[in-house]
Amino acid sequence: MRLVSLQVKNFRVFKELSLAFPDNVIGIIGPNGAGKSSIIEAISWALYGTQVARSGKDEIKSVFAGRWDPCEVCLEFAVNGEIYRVFRRLAGRFERPEVELFRGETSESVGVNETRRYVQELLGLDWRGFRTSFLARQQELNAMSDLRPAERRDQLAGMLGIERLDKAIQKVKEDSRSNERQAGFLERQLAETSGIELRIMELTKRVSQLSRQVSSLEGVQREAEAAFEKASDHFLKVQQAKSAWLQLQAKCEAEEKTTAHLSEQLHNLKEEASKLTQYQQELAELEKKLTDLPDFRVQLEAMKLAKSRLEMRLTLTKQETNLTHEKSQVEARIAANGKMLADYDGQLNTIPDNVRNLLAEEQRRLEQAHNEFAHLREQKVSLEGEIGKLKQQMASIAQFGPDSVCDRCLRPLGDSLPEIKAHLSNELSKLQTAAGELDGRLRIKEEEGKKLKESCQDLEAKAKAHYELTVKKEASLKEQKSLTQRKEELQSKLSEVSEQLGQLRQVHFDERQFSSLAKTVEQLEQAHSRYNRLKGELSRSPAVDKAIEDHTQKLAAAGETVASLKAELEKLAFSEKDFETAQQSFQAAQKLLESAKNEHLAASKEQELNQKELEGKLEQRKRFEQAEEELETCRTSQYYGEKLAGLLAQFRSYLIAQIRPTLAEFSSRLMSEMTSGKYSLVELDEKYNLRVMDYGQYYAVDRFSGGEKDLANLCLRLAISLALTESAGLSRSFIILDEVFGSQDSERKDLIVKALANLKNRFPQIFLITHVEELRDRVEELIEVIPTGAGWSEV
Ligand SMILES: Nc1ncnc2c1ncn2[C@@H]1O[C@H](COP(=O)(O)OP(=O)(O)OP(=O)(O)O)[C@@H](O)[C@H]1O
Ligand SMILES: [Mg+2]
Repeated sequence: MRLVSLQVKNFRVFKELSLAFPDNVIGIIGPNGAGKSSIIEAISWALYGTQVARSGKDEIKSVFAGRWDPCEVCLEFAVNGEIYRVFRRLAGRFERPEVELFRGETSESVGVNETRRYVQELLGLDWRGFRTSFLARQQELNAMSDLRPAERRDQLAGMLGIERLDKAIQKVKEDSRSNERQAGFLERQLAETSGIELRIMELTKRVSQLSRQVSSLEGVQREAEAAFEKASDHFLKVQQAKSAWLQLQAKCEAEEKTTAHLSEQLHNLKEEASKLTQYQQELAELEKKLTDLPDFRVQLEAMKLAKSRLEMRLTLTKQETNLTHEKSQVEARIAANGKMLADYDGQLNTIPDNVRNLLAEEQRRLEQAHNEFAHLREQKVSLEGEIGKLKQQMASIAQFGPDSVCDRCLRPLGDSLPEIKAHLSNELSKLQTAAGELDGRLRIKEEEGKKLKESCQDLEAKAKAHYELTVKKEASLKEQKSLTQRKEELQSKLSEVSEQLGQLRQVHFDERQFSSLAKTVEQLEQAHSRYNRLKGELSRSPAVDKAIEDHTQKLAAAGETVASLKAELEKLAFSEKDFETAQQSFQAAQKLLESAKNEHLAASKEQELNQKELEGKLEQRKRFEQAEEELETCRTSQYYGEKLAGLLAQFRSYLIAQIRPTLAEFSSRLMSEMTSGKYSLVELDEKYNLRVMDYGQYYAVDRFSGGEKDLANLCLRLAISLALTESAGLSRSFIILDEVFGSQDSERKDLIVKALANLKNRFPQIFLITHVEELRDRVEELIEVIPTGAGWSEV
């Protein structure tokens, strides 16, 4: 495979890019971030789409492009002499991916999936294979040398596509295990089959037995049903006859009850009629008796009047006596009260009317005398104090003599002592004289106070007596007034009673005659009320006569009805015994039918259950047969699966065993060229450690310088590409090496470029991407990537 040309629009930093790729060592040079790797990415994206790009769809289109501007890449490439053109774009506002591939001018595939499949088939590589074969990417070499052996082995396995083989082995093993599990499960299921055949035989036999039994029981049930129907018809007829007989019987009994009731009522009515006839006779006798009753009533009223007058007279006489007696009592009390009033007046005349004023005056004088006495006592006490002090001073002077101190100036008295002593005794005698006078005045005042106190007590007693007499007099006067009033009232009542007595004439009244007349009248009044009651009773007489006539007629009719109903009952000729016999035969037939039905039902149910179980068992047997077939398949699949896994594992080991010497051979050749024969042998040991021979002995790459280590890794990477392109049948192809010069010195860079140029028979196109300026002159073709500002670049 060779690359022919590339056209790009709005792809990352390129607004527009158009490149033609000749067969040569082509340098893609530019500063960091210029867009060198983006060119390689455009090629990969054109062939395999977003999955092979380093970022998602959203980041492929240039951020500087307009919303509606499309992002497009058109890659022309040649495979086995045929020219292909793949055209991929992100279209529209939503960046919908579109892709079409042409062989010459013929469209071979349209759409993402179809084109991916086409490219995969054409190149014999999926996107991972493509990346490993044609692209040695930035950082990849260093990363590979830093891996642990196991990781490196896996990495190599991944690069060489062995991981897909691993996955296939894994899948075959899993399928085999799942088949084993399923087979185990089926075997356990099949272990339960023992006894099923026996059970199926038993059930088949039992089902056919039951089927015969059910059909025989069906016949029995039909016979029982016919017998039941017959018994039921007969019983129904007998029941109808019984109900008709019972109805008639009830009717007859009701009529008999009516007859009895009517004859009882008639009997009562007749008794009432005879009673009324007796009343008629009694009434005639009472009429005779009551002829004198009006006269007797008049006489009795007159006597009642006389009696009441007599009673009135007696009452009035009694009142007159009582009033006269009370009047004489009141008069006596008036006289006694008059006497008392005269006595009170006599006593009051002995006490002056202004006794209260006199008492107040005397009390004021007594209080004044008390105050004066107290004042004099105070004067006496003060005087006695002064005398005491003077006596003390005189005693002190007598004791200390001329050394005594003056109580004013506090200087000793000295020579003035006799003069002062005389003065002091003079003063003392004056004070004692004044005290004697005060004692005299105190005695006089005390005497005056005593007299005034006595006078006050006397006046207080008089004032109290005056008050009590005045109260008593007022009470007597009040009583006297009310007694006089009462006397006048009694006098007027007495005159009234005398007048009434005068008006009442002498009354004639005989008590015995009165009570005998009253008794006679009472008896006659009772007879009169009986007379009235009987008259009322007799008014019902015509109605009673009529009722007797009605009842007699009704009774005759009811008697006739009863006789006719009894005749009908006779005719029906119903017998309870016949009924009971019919009922018993009906119940027996019913029982028989029920038991026939139950037996039939039980047998049918049993048959159904057995049938169901039989069907279940047959179904189970079918499943077991299927399971046996499935078990066979599982075991076969498991066997072949295990076999296949073994074969694949052997194949894997073979592949790995084959690839190691191939890679070692390629790597050794390249290493020798790139180091001018200094290092001519490189190997991958069993653990996939990269080892280089120096002075006849292999060493791990870590033992060499950083540049030599990078070189050894580059050789191994190129060897992998060679191996892969060869196995894909792409004998002549391109290779892209992105920043692989890292730590190489100038001479080594030269050697690498030269060694690469020597690979032209396998890689006619070698792309060297680098920011190292010195390589500019060493490559045969140059693509210079130049940033033009504002995020864009061009070549
Ligand atoms: N969708 C995009 N639109 C615009 N610029 C982008 C977009 N995606 C990535 N870039 C920028 O494009 C630039 C070019 O990246 P690229 O990897 O091609 O550079 P390079 O030349 O390989 O640099 P280096 O030498 O450092 O590897 C980067 O600066 C990156 O940020
Ligand atoms: Mg880069």
